[in-house]
Amino acid sequence: MTMKHAEHVWTVQVDSSRSEYFVAAAQIYCSTFSLQDREPVRVLAERLDSESAAGPNALHIDVFGTGAKFSGNTKAIAVYHYMSNSNSGLLSFLAVKKAFRGMGYGSRLYSVVKRRIKLDGLQRQSLAPTGIFCEVRKDQPHNPNDHTFDFWKQNNTFPISMEWLHPRISSEDTITSLTLLFSPLVRSYRHRLPSAFLARAVEDIYQIAYRKPLDDPLLARVRESIKKTHYHTLLR
Ligand SMILES: CC(C)(COP(=O)(O)OP(=O)(O)OC[C@H]1O[C@@H](n2cnc3c(N)ncnc32)[C@H](O)[C@@H]1OP(=O)(O)O)[C@@H](O)C(=O)NCCC(=O)NCCS
Repeated sequence: MTMKHAEHVWTVQVDSSRSEYFVAAAQIYCSTFSLQDREPVRVLAERLDSESAAGPNALHIDVFGTGAKFSGNTKAIAVYHYMSNSNSGLLSFLAVKKAFRGMGYGSRLYSVVKRRIKLDGLQRQSLAPTGIFCEVRKDQPHNPNDHTFDFWKQNNTFPISMEWLHPRISSEDTITSLTLLFSPLVRSYRHRLPSAFLARAVEDIYQIAYRKPLDDPLLARVRESIKKTHYHTLLR
């Protein structure tokens, strides 16, 4: 990806819901994702403020901007988790303001996400994390007007051959059937994922990101789709 001219770009790690950068992040979050596809801002705020930096897992909200460094110049946001048990990451939301899409900003912010997940793994376990999960709507790969899937492909992120169900934290009845994607950070996970790793990772995602117990019935269904084989292929 080439930039036409060198421009000043910056990122800020948002550490509190009282930060002006949190307000900028919340604006992009709400204008990009409908309430059906996201949690209310108060859930994000509560989680960010209750997060302990010393814990085994981590929630990060990063904002990306260009030009002078102030919250009004925020152009993109990423909300993501480091998950200790599976030594992997989950990117919950990545969004670039509509007027600034297709300019390489999403990819730049995603590189920051990868670096921080690597750092989290190395600091907490002295071990390089395996990769980063994310989710897309099931129809996205087949929708010519939606470039999200092109974006993920370009960023070396591919669908996993399994069933994926996403329950909302704030609304017990909202369950979305999505496609789970994986972006490998280590060579050995480049083409296929061991089922045992996948089982640990889906438990992490349900417990840490969705706040569900290990006996959650949806998690049981997802696990069922993992059990059948030793490896799961990344669909390219
Ligand atoms: C998905 C999203 C984050 C991508 O960010 P972006 O800054 O627009 O993407 P980039 O400019 O870094 O593009 C990277 C690659 O994605 C693909 N891509 C992005 N926009 C595209 C478009 N309009 N047409 C075709 N391909 C496109 C290309 O392959 C591109 O690589 P290239 O420029 O080398 O061809 C952004 O479009 C967005 O905010 N979408 C809405 C929210 C969303 O769906 N988020 C993802 C799920 S949480």
